[in-house]
Amino acid sequence: MSDATPQPKSIDNADKSMDDIMSLCKRRGFIYQASEIYGGINGFWDYGPLGAQLKKNLRDAWWEDVIMMGCSGATGPDGEPVEIVPLDTCIIQNPKVWEASGHIGGFNDPMVDCRETKSRYRADHVQVMSQASGEGQMYAFIGGDDASEAAARKKLEKYARTELTDDQIAVTPLVELDLDVYGRVVGPDAKEAGTLTAPRAFNLMFPTVVGATGDVEDDKAYLRPETAQGIFIHFKNVVDTTRVKLPFGIANVGKSFRNEVTPRNFTFRSREFEQMECEFFCHADDAKDWYQFWRDSRMAWWESIGLAGANLRLREHDTDELAHYAKDGAGTADVEYKYPFTAPDYGELEGIAHRADFDLKQHQEHSKVKLEYFDTTRGELAPNGQPEGERYLPHCIEPAAGLDRGVLALICEAYTPDPDRPSKVFMRFHPRIAPIKAAVFPLVAKGGMPEVALELHRELRQRFGKYGLIEYDAKQSVGKRYARMDEAGCPFCFTIDGETVEDGPNKDTVTVRDRDTAEQTRMPISQVADFLSQKLGL
Ligand code: GAP
Repeated sequence: MSDATPQPKSIDNADKSMDDIMSLCKRRGFIYQASEIYGGINGFWDYGPLGAQLKKNLRDAWWEDVIMMGCSGATGPDGEPVEIVPLDTCIIQNPKVWEASGHIGGFNDPMVDCRETKSRYRADHVQVMSQASGEGQMYAFIGGDDASEAAARKKLEKYARTELTDDQIAVTPLVELDLDVYGRVVGPDAKEAGTLTAPRAFNLMFPTVVGATGDVEDDKAYLRPETAQGIFIHFKNVVDTTRVKLPFGIANVGKSFRNEVTPRNFTFRSREFEQMECEFFCHADDAKDWYQFWRDSRMAWWESIGLAGANLRLREHDTDELAHYAKDGAGTADVEYKYPFTAPDYGELEGIAHRADFDLKQHQEHSKVKLEYFDTTRGELAPNGQPEGERYLPHCIEPAAGLDRGVLALICEAYTPDPDRPSKVFMRFHPRIAPIKAAVFPLVAKGGMPEVALELHRELRQRFGKYGLIEYDAKQSVGKRYARMDEAGCPFCFTIDGETVEDGPNKDTVTVRDRDTAEQTRMPISQVADFLSQKLGL
């Protein structure tokens, strides 16, 4: 991608409106509400023609760079090329997989229900507001946004029958509130106090029943909540059936399902979403170096496809955030993106975790199948001078990315307001990721122009169609067609006009319009394909 168009500096997402971005996504066919004509279904989103291609481009970029090219051709901390193989595993597995992984026993969110409004809230995501002191004070529930905080304050003032200053108010996480005072908590939309249930554990896995006559309990199975477990349960198969040697990674991409208590923020927290996960297996002694390698490599990758700048950051977890098996490990970090709805804060895009040997150990214990790796490069030296070998459960570094969150970050990053353009906004996608790679227009639909335009369209489609859409458009004024392509994020438009088809100095030349600068230049039609190839880095 070295020849690709350099990307201008990113704009702080705090200045972008999520409503405007969602409206463009609908208007241009990036993302639709699932089951929209039936009123939708909370937590589910579908991708339109442009969104489907954008998502494929991101998935393909990950597949090519991470798996096929071993982290874009990087050298690992061992001085060797990075080895990773793909896998494609089922959404439904034997439920014992989820017992071993801990998802059946522990994949729970604490939630509270409001009996009056039937709303459900994640107890660990919300707070309550109360008067800072005083006997029998009331508590007003804050639903998680500024509007609900203002409403809670109003409610408190109604109970207190006076205006309250900031230092007369205390805000407490709901999970820290004593159950005895739940009778005095007023929900965000509730009229009465005391309508909230105590927090209850809510398992996030979607249950299903396997078999036409399946019994709800005996034949119960689950939709996978992560793609990672498909990798661990085939660790031995991959070692036995391929020539991989430690250290190596196995990658899996596909749908995951979580019955999120509060799906929200567009596709950010969905109930059906896609993950791109890799489990990188190595000896425990090397885990720290590989963790560092993956942290830096994943951050650099997101930057390479256009998320560079102040909207992207890498955050190391504090010790109290770490999973129990990771406490003594090499570390855990998140690649975070400043989405307009999290700004000025950041939201998780990808987690990079040292999972130690936790998962392989669990599956070895539950399945009773030995999952140890025999490493011929380690162990005591035998009399012949060769190592005797060492048998061990490898440690694992897990870079786990969300494909839908990646698409959403790319959309938010690309969204560029520009009051000087007819469209008032353009989508500045990295050329490699852009769903439409080029558009071809006849200036007017007569005078031999459509024939030349269609011929160029055919040529570009044959050469670049496998990377994305090549549009042909002859409707409306050319200005409106440019505006449409600006909103779709098409990097280059080629227009065939009268000069192209008439004898004169510009015969057989076309106008090229650059999306980012809106500049127009002329070039020979015979050079268009090579120009595009160089600009797209293909
Ligand atoms: N195997 C580890 C694992 O699944 P995770 O942090 O729960 O870790 C990895 O998920 C990534 O999957 C997250 O960084 C996020 O990008 C994405 N993800 C998780 N839950 C999601 C949801 N409800 N909606 C959209 N993406 C989600």
